[in-house]
Amino acid sequence: MLELCHITKKYKEVTALENVSLTLQNGIYGLLGPNGAGKSTMMNLITGTLRPDSGSIRWNGADIRSLGADYRSILGYAPQQQGLYDTFTGRRFLSYMAALKGISKKELPGELTRVLAYVNLEAAADRPVGTYSGGMKQRILIAQAIMGAPKLIVLDEPTAGLDPKERVRIRERIKDLAGDKIILVSTHVVSDIEPIAREILLLKSGRLVDQGAVSALAARYEGAKNLEDVYMRVYGSD
Ligand SMILES: Nc1ncnc2c1ncn2[C@@H]1O[C@H](COP(=O)(O)OP(=O)(O)OP(=O)(O)O)[C@@H](O)[C@H]1O
Ligand SMILES: [Mg+2]
Repeated sequence: MLELCHITKKYKEVTALENVSLTLQNGIYGLLGPNGAGKSTMMNLITGTLRPDSGSIRWNGADIRSLGADYRSILGYAPQQQGLYDTFTGRRFLSYMAALKGISKKELPGELTRVLAYVNLEAAADRPVGTYSGGMKQRILIAQAIMGAPKLIVLDEPTAGLDPKERVRIRERIKDLAGDKIILVSTHVVSDIEPIAREILLLKSGRLVDQGAVSALAARYEGAKNLEDVYMRVYGSD
């Protein structure tokens, strides 16, 4: 279980998140919100990349700051920005990320085989990541996020810039990951998350303005039949 307790994060005068409290159980959560709503900030706080100005983040009751390497070993994270490792081959990039996660040399070959097959990148594994298509880059990011059987997977816009077929492929791969773990996925496209999410989290200007299963959310907004309708009600006036 992951808990955010009264999280506030400011960048100088910009308040990116304001007093956000949230509990995540096993399952897939969709994080929605327009540009600048605070999605990446929330993900960076959850992964420990950023520290909150106030509030705490707890994994099974323990503050994540006290967990150190133990927390990194249960965490899988695919950040939003790309292009950091364009000169690495896919295999070298994955090996590097495995080392950061504390995956042993003995486990590495098996893990590489498993995750490359999962995202269907075996044939491209020895090419530089810089030569990959947008969809392939997203898939290698997902591959590194799932190495080492993480219990908490954070995917920041994993379908950004992808064609419709690739979007569906990524969505189905994320769905297949679900089980005894928490998966948090941000997106701007409701159809990427609507069929697979246990719950949707709606961020607006740094505040968590609503949260619930798609059906429960739709019932709260009069005349809303699906997540698209809910989205337009919550953000339509922006
Ligand atoms: N390093 C930073 N320095 C200053 N301001 C920042 C920084 N990172 C984010 N912000 C600001 O914080 C707010 C939230 O940004 P964030 O990146 O979390 O939004 P987002 O929901 O992920 O947006 P997008 O959909 O565009 O990815 C925005 O106003 C943004 O300009
Ligand atoms: Mg973002």
